[in-house]
Amino acid sequence: MTTSSATQIRLAKNTPGIPDASFWNFTHDPVEAPKEGEVKIKLHYISIDPAMRGWMTPIRSYMPPVQIGEVMRAFGIGEVIESKNNQFAVGDFVHGFTGVQTEASLDATFLRKLNLDDAPLDVQMGGLGWPGFTGYFGMTDICNPQPGDVVVVSGASGAVGEVACQVAKYAGAYVIGIAGGEKKCAYLRDELNLNAVIDYKNDDVKAKLKEVAPKGVDVYFDNVGGDTLNTVLGMIRYKARIAVCGAISQYANMDKPQGPGNYMKLISSSGTMRGFTMKDYLMQIPEASQQLATWYNEGQLKVQTHVVDGIENFADTLQMLFHGKNFGKLMVKL
Ligand SMILES: NC(=O)c1ccc[n+]([C@@H]2O[C@H](COP(=O)([O-])OP(=O)(O)OC[C@H]3O[C@@H](n4cnc5c(N)ncnc54)[C@H](OP(=O)(O)O)[C@@H]3O)[C@@H](O)[C@H]2O)c1
Repeated sequence: MTTSSATQIRLAKNTPGIPDASFWNFTHDPVEAPKEGEVKIKLHYISIDPAMRGWMTPIRSYMPPVQIGEVMRAFGIGEVIESKNNQFAVGDFVHGFTGVQTEASLDATFLRKLNLDDAPLDVQMGGLGWPGFTGYFGMTDICNPQPGDVVVVSGASGAVGEVACQVAKYAGAYVIGIAGGEKKCAYLRDELNLNAVIDYKNDDVKAKLKEVAPKGVDVYFDNVGGDTLNTVLGMIRYKARIAVCGAISQYANMDKPQGPGNYMKLISSSGTMRGFTMKDYLMQIPEASQQLATWYNEGQLKVQTHVVDGIENFADTLQMLFHGKNFGKLMVKL
């Protein structure tokens, strides 16, 4: 039974906007030994997610908001260093809600044991982890792409988007990726072999979409919301499916989000637009995990990760997401 000292990052304020350093307090509180059913873990990676902006916003959502003074919620990957749970042994690597901290004693109920043979840990945080599962279930279950369908994915080069794009390609769809800047678009075109790409920072999205999808869009996997969602809605075809995965363009002003004026297109096209979170798919995670690991190890799934060193860089790293400065799954390595 050991008590050790660690670093925690706690929420200092919960106002709107892109969170800068003033939103966080660092503490160095001792970590208690694990109680019955718990494990104590040493964190190796902390996931940096757009959802953090939502978790720190004091409105009702799919999870209770993080309170001021609490350790910031985050997914993490850690190594078990003490165990009071017979499902986990010292030396096991686990993934789950660990918080932004260097060590923690956690209820092991919701921790998932990782198989180190599947892929490197950063990849298991990204395309083979939660963002990959999100892209996989959103695309297979909600979008259900058929051979020849025209599928559009925004945020296409990101952690969720790149998996959604590749799942749609395997289904035989014609896939169009939307991302910001030539580097990300080149990745989509040359590495993921998408059928067309749109650089929303430099192209006229509406004009380009008309050029590459003259007959319209069957499926839209939306990661960004805002103008892009509205533009694609205006071009949907009969029985189109739209998966509302995220709306990162709106997260800094959650009090006044921009709605899609073209929503009535859903009526004339008998289209569906459905939101989801991974909460809907918790029981099916083993299916996605196995499928994505198989594709990855066969060389059929590409996964991009972006690793920043040091918990002290947490605030700057989180901001990168909202300026498009990450390229692939963003995380802090400890
Ligand atoms: N529903 C769920 O269960 C679930 C789970 C995980 C994630 N998500 C959502 O999925 C989306 C992608 O998450 P991720 O973890 O994969 O992040 P990510 O795509 O790896 O990183 C975020 C990217 O968003 C783009 N972006 C930032 N501001 C933007 C803006 N104003 N307009 C358009 N694009 C913007 C940037 O790429 P560019 O350089 O291309 O602009 C940035 O790199 C987010 O909306 C997130 O909230 C949902």
